[in-house]
Amino acid sequence: MEQKISIEIKNLVDKWKSKEGNLIMILHEIQNHHGYVPRELSLELSQMLDVPLARIYEVITFYNFFKLTPPGKHKIAVCMGTACYLKGGQDLINEVKNILHIEPGQTTKDGQYYLDMVRCLGCCGLAPVMMIDEKVYGKVKKSEIMDILSKHGSTD
Ligand code: FES
Repeated sequence: MEQKISIEIKNLVDKWKSKEGNLIMILHEIQNHHGYVPRELSLELSQMLDVPLARIYEVITFYNFFKLTPPGKHKIAVCMGTACYLKGGQDLINEVKNILHIEPGQTTKDGQYYLDMVRCLGCCGLAPVMMIDEKVYGKVKKSEIMDILSKHGSTD
């Protein structure tokens, strides 16, 4: 089926067409702008560049920094660096998963939260640590997570 090409994709292809690695650079620009790579833009790109859609998805899934779904409004980062891991980081992850019904790398259905596992947030003395958006929570107990989450948005 013939896909209508947006100005956004036409401009991006124009900008990058003569450069090496252009597909990746274009995907970066799309993600920077939208926060993820929407499927309809991948379809347009496939047509514009004459590259099969499957190849574009191969690239997107190979590099795990590309996202295929919109990021949540609030980003939860639970630290699983050594210090946090030893102090129960996994319990924090499990509790967030139980409350929000998402796995790391996923966004809640209402688009409120995105859950991420990170290596070290640079404040190991406060382990276990989690961060929501720009706010750091240290020495977090599993029993406090519901409260912490509800300060940022709905947990339904
Ligand atoms: S290991 Fe978690 S903050 Fe460093």
